[in-house]
Amino acid sequence: MEPATFVLFGATGDLARRKIYPALYNLFVDGKLPQSFSAFGLGRREWTDESFQANIEQSIRQFSRREVANEAALKSFLRSFRYHVLDIGRKEDYASLLDRVQVREDELHMAPNRLFYLSVGPEYFEPIAANIQESGLGSSNGWKRLVIEKPFGHDLASARELNRKLSQSFAEEEVFRIDHYLGKAMVQKLESLQQSNPVFQALWTNRYIANVQISAIETVGVEERAGYYDHVGAIKDMFQNHMLQMLMMAAIHLPHDSSSDQVRFKKKKVIEALAPLQKHEIAANVIRGQYAEGSIQGKPVAGYLSEPGIPPTSMNDTFIAARLEIDNNYWRGVPFYIRTGKRMNEKSTRIVIEFKDPLKPSSQSSEEPVAPNLLIIDIGPRESISLQFNEKDPVSGQFKPVTVPLYESKGDVPEAYENLIFDALHGDATFFAHWDEVELSWQWVQPVLDEFADNQVPLHRYAAGSYGPDASDALLAQDGYHWWFDE
Ligand code: BG6
Repeated sequence: MEPATFVLFGATGDLARRKIYPALYNLFVDGKLPQSFSAFGLGRREWTDESFQANIEQSIRQFSRREVANEAALKSFLRSFRYHVLDIGRKEDYASLLDRVQVREDELHMAPNRLFYLSVGPEYFEPIAANIQESGLGSSNGWKRLVIEKPFGHDLASARELNRKLSQSFAEEEVFRIDHYLGKAMVQKLESLQQSNPVFQALWTNRYIANVQISAIETVGVEERAGYYDHVGAIKDMFQNHMLQMLMMAAIHLPHDSSSDQVRFKKKKVIEALAPLQKHEIAANVIRGQYAEGSIQGKPVAGYLSEPGIPPTSMNDTFIAARLEIDNNYWRGVPFYIRTGKRMNEKSTRIVIEFKDPLKPSSQSSEEPVAPNLLIIDIGPRESISLQFNEKDPVSGQFKPVTVPLYESKGDVPEAYENLIFDALHGDATFFAHWDEVELSWQWVQPVLDEFADNQVPLHRYAAGSYGPDASDALLAQDGYHWWFDE
């Protein structure tokens, strides 16, 4: 792998501590970091290289998916890290950073390849990108890459504006927009599921598929993030990014051996074909909800409006369910139901493909209906693929559905951040969101945001610990379906 300098903005923050250092460490243990690797952490706090390394060590001991097995190896990993005090707005700090980065590159005889990871609030993306460019940090004769976290804008206009500004310093192929759902092993497997399995490829159309259900539900509530969450809600926090990314990955049709560009191009085709909702169709196709008090696993929990930091009049959505249609030859007529919410009955991210049933007896017939075939893709916390099919009981002669595993993860798989950081260091953008996808996602969501803002969509309360408001069940029931596995 090519040598690289990893430059981390927000090095003293929570994401760095919980995810980024443990991910880098695990890549190191697996021999997946470049041979020549230098890292700089940046922050306003007056840390030294030593105190920085001690913090990284502590984060690894606390959050790494693997225990530290080799103390000497850990020490050598930590020695790659330097700390630099940097105020995002101070140009001198970038100049002194450049000096130090270059000294390390010379010491290690490294090409000046630099990856800038922005683990900071979105308001800092643009000034940092501009300062990287102006200071000369971004104009070496090696490569440069910019990795940014969500949110990418807060609506269509702000996303476009942010992209316009970033593009003054970084070209599209240099920008790696993280959507951590794309780093999940099971989401990545969607790429190969039908691409390399003719049996699924043959079935992946409206001829055989009745509907697709994509659900990401959580038991946690707003936690300590009221200031952020009350402004974004489930629609911007989960739906515009993670849920639509999963939809693209589930609906994609790929030729065998597709390149990264092809994957992203085909994803774009999916989102481009997403039928826009007209103003008058929104309330019938998008359900918004907010959790009320209830209990989760026997423990009483407060409603959203009683959470610390949430105004008692908040109309913020903590739950979204929506029916979408992809208007192309593969998917026309197949509803895609998407659901995401906080303070629900369980933590589960799952895609269920429900197949059509050409054998279905007519409503007048006295025959017992058989259950539909289902392909169940568990993204997390379980990672598995299973198939529901019907079996005839030899004694009673009745059909009964059985679910058999096709694939089960062996556990101990790399975390999303490991996959994504590895790919970014390699320059592989397959599992990063291209600007076209981000823009088209906002384009679909924007009219919904407008209707929410105008209060044209009812806000349904649902009890914490439930599967969301009744209206979410009714959304499927009117098409003759129901959410699978709500028990
Ligand atoms: C984050 C959201 O992007 O994803 C959180 O901001 C949410 O609100 C989280 O809890 C869910 O991620 P995961 O990987 O736990 O399903």
